[in-house]
Amino acid sequence: MFDISELIRPELLKFKPYTSARHLVSSGEIMLDANENPYDEENLNRYPDPNQIALRESLSNYADAPLDNIFVGSGSDEIIDLLIRLFCEPGRDEVLIIEPTYGMYRVCAELNAVSVSSCLLNDEFDIELSSLRSALNEKTKIIFCCSPNNPTGNLLSVAELLEYTKSEGIITVVDEAYLEFSKSTSVSRLLDEYPNLVVLRTLSKAWGLAGIRLGYSVAAAEIVSYLMRIKLPYNINVLSSDRALEALSDKANMEKKVSEIISERERLIEEFNNLSIFEEVYPSVANFVLLKSRFSSKIKLTLAENGIIIRDRSADPLLENCIRITVGTPEQNGMLLNVLKGMNL
Ligand SMILES: Cc1ncc(COP(=O)(O)O)c(C=O)c1O
Repeated sequence: MFDISELIRPELLKFKPYTSARHLVSSGEIMLDANENPYDEENLNRYPDPNQIALRESLSNYADAPLDNIFVGSGSDEIIDLLIRLFCEPGRDEVLIIEPTYGMYRVCAELNAVSVSSCLLNDEFDIELSSLRSALNEKTKIIFCCSPNNPTGNLLSVAELLEYTKSEGIITVVDEAYLEFSKSTSVSRLLDEYPNLVVLRTLSKAWGLAGIRLGYSVAAAEIVSYLMRIKLPYNINVLSSDRALEALSDKANMEKKVSEIISERERLIEEFNNLSIFEEVYPSVANFVLLKSRFSSKIKLTLAENGIIIRDRSADPLLENCIRITVGTPEQNGMLLNVLKGMNL
């Protein structure tokens, strides 16, 4: 049996969370309990619901998982930080990352004085269980795995990883920030089988709401209940919550934008393949494309001179001479292609 409480930092098992006024009573006729200003500014004079019931209900509906399995954060970045704080004893426990990948796993771990060990993806940019195994040790509490992976753009073989980490008793975070662009289904459907699984998702990508900072997690109810205890009471503000609820009520609008981005991604990949400046155009199921070119610095510079900013990934392991380009609007992509086609190299 997989016992989550054995993985939680021991002091957090007994931790007494802050209880705010709104935890105790959420509404009444005359609210004089929370030192709020009584003058109504479109209800912004009131603290938000610390249990985030309406928002979690809406996300539960979208993610097709029960409310008790949903946790919301100020971006998935906040949840990455909270997961490390929940499971890892500073100065003792470790996390494992599979590189090249999203940079915040390492940053959050190091900020919390938690060591990071890493293994590399294989030649297909997929997980190699043998190298992962040799990077693990008895202090490893969490493995971060990003699928579709940023910056390589491909899905990873997560099911095999989960089977292994369940038997080893290691929390496995699968970051699905880009899932909607891949048209595949979330691994959260496997939650009953793998209580060690924590899925991260966000409204920052497909939903086009990076500015409101809204990420969420689908995880075992026990993990969610511990996260609820250690989060700041009002980590999601009223404006973000309202905007998220509005967006979530119109899934078709998100799907339409995602389809447009996918078709532009395919167009870009085709056009990049026709350009001799690129030695490699990697396949992508995300909203960005990874490219290899011995002219990568020159390309980045020339694009910047034309007001187009892309991301240099050449310092990442395995990604020598690689750049990452986000899929823009058809007009933006047209301008990008014009500059690339006009380059004299
Ligand atoms: C893989 C991955 N996870 C998470 C994030 C951050 O998401 P959020 O905006 O929800 O904090 C990003 C942002 O680029 C990302 O690439």
